[in-house]
Amino acid sequence: MADKPATTTQTGTPVASDAHSLTAGADGITALHDRYLVEKLASFNRERVPERNPHAKGGGAFGEFVVTEDVSAYTRAAVFQPGARSETLLRFSSVAGEQGSPDTWRDVRGFALRFYTTEGNLDIVGNNTPTFFLRDAMKFPDFIHSQKRLGASGLRDADMQWDFWTLSPETAHQVTYVMGDRGLPRSWRHMNGYGSHTYQWINAEGSRFWVQYHFLSRQGVESMSATDAELLAGSDADHYRRDLYEAIERGEHPSWDVYVQVMPYAEAKEYRFNPFDLTKTWSKKDYPRIKVGTFTLNRNPQNFFAEIEQAAFSPGNQVPGTGISPDKMLMARVFSYADAQRYRIGANYNQLPVNEPHAAEVRNYMHEGQMQYRFHGAEHRVYTPNSFGAAGGPEADPLAGVEASWESDGELVRAAATLHSEDDDFGQAGTLIREVFDDDQRARFVDTLVGQYQGLTIPVIKERFLQYWTNIDQATADAIRAQIAVGAPQDDFVDTDA
Ligand code: HEM
Repeated sequence: MADKPATTTQTGTPVASDAHSLTAGADGITALHDRYLVEKLASFNRERVPERNPHAKGGGAFGEFVVTEDVSAYTRAAVFQPGARSETLLRFSSVAGEQGSPDTWRDVRGFALRFYTTEGNLDIVGNNTPTFFLRDAMKFPDFIHSQKRLGASGLRDADMQWDFWTLSPETAHQVTYVMGDRGLPRSWRHMNGYGSHTYQWINAEGSRFWVQYHFLSRQGVESMSATDAELLAGSDADHYRRDLYEAIERGEHPSWDVYVQVMPYAEAKEYRFNPFDLTKTWSKKDYPRIKVGTFTLNRNPQNFFAEIEQAAFSPGNQVPGTGISPDKMLMARVFSYADAQRYRIGANYNQLPVNEPHAAEVRNYMHEGQMQYRFHGAEHRVYTPNSFGAAGGPEADPLAGVEASWESDGELVRAAATLHSEDDDFGQAGTLIREVFDDDQRARFVDTLVGQYQGLTIPVIKERFLQYWTNIDQATADAIRAQIAVGAPQDDFVDTDA
């Protein structure tokens, strides 16, 4: 006992017991004025904060990003200048499952990367795929609902998932990714990350470029079999979280090379795919990857809740020299994340150590609110403009705060984005199957789809499932039909459930 410090209340007063409440006699009533007991129970009742709505289950670590190349022709951002070093935080996640869900359920994986830069935090909140299921934010809540649980039974439901996907043909490309090997990475260390959206870079002369971020794993990209994933889901639900934590503790520090594809500003209008359509990738033949640098994860969180659960990433966290683009998903995400975090964590969530800038200062006229602890000096005014010079507070600088910009034309409308010459919903998905997957990957892919088909119970959705894959790739659809027809005569196969 003597070598341990005394337990205290939350306000630092030593307490007499951690084991016994204060009662009137050993068997009598409990005293409400046992302030420490009340405080301990009340603290326990407030331990949980709402989990992230999508991407609830995850894990992460800190590290360092080093710029090894010179991309100053494209961006003035300090974080990307030759030789720059920045602290980073990376949180990996699954999309659909809740906090306790198994890591190895088939899913897209989140790849949320923060750079603590000298010009404030830059967050690239991406996935392990370069595309997404949707191209308009209006559908996002519906999509996530279809991935989660049915209102009545509280169960996840294959019919619901495929109902949404097959009624939304723009999902084809991303569904192809997730049903392929990327849906089951070997570990978080063995997957690439992508910003997925088109972002903007602005150089020192004010020239603008469109960019796509690619984070290529130096561990290699590897996946696991469906059987292993299923076994691990039962035996070690935290498989990816454990793998990352233990690798870093062992001193095996995973790293990723940072690349960008760069499109000159003016080329966006005529490019064969609409570059602001998140369901598409840019051809690497048209826009080769350009290396920027490497980041390494070398430090586990000291406290998972404080530093990972309360981490608040946002695609709106951009810095001078970087910015967003007119991608309808991205523009909505700039609103959505900070809104979620004000609800999930609290009004002053950006004052928490993991969220405050580590290499830049915060200077503005916002103050007070729940859990405020950052405060201005006595001379600092709480309004601007004011008459007190530098002591009175900061002043916005149009040159320092360069923002992404683009021309926009037309009236306010609710309409699909402009189609470019090669835009359609199924083309790139089919190319992925035919030209990127190898034979083994294609075989596993068809097996997965057959398994998915067998999970469906509603005839109209089963039919649409087959049509969806016919639209994407005839050979895949034929292979699925052949496998689900096993046992039935090939020539007059009848879907007996239909
Ligand atoms: C309009 C479309 C989208 C909306 C409205 C949306 C909304 C959200 C919200 C509300 C969260 C939880 C944030 C929090 O509580 O901290 C979240 C998490 C996340 N989203 Fe999205 N999202 C969208 C699209 C995307 C896309 C396209 C990607 C990837 C390219 C993505 C990647 C992520 C990741 C990685 C996280 C977890 C971040 C973390 O680790 O804390 N989301 N999303």
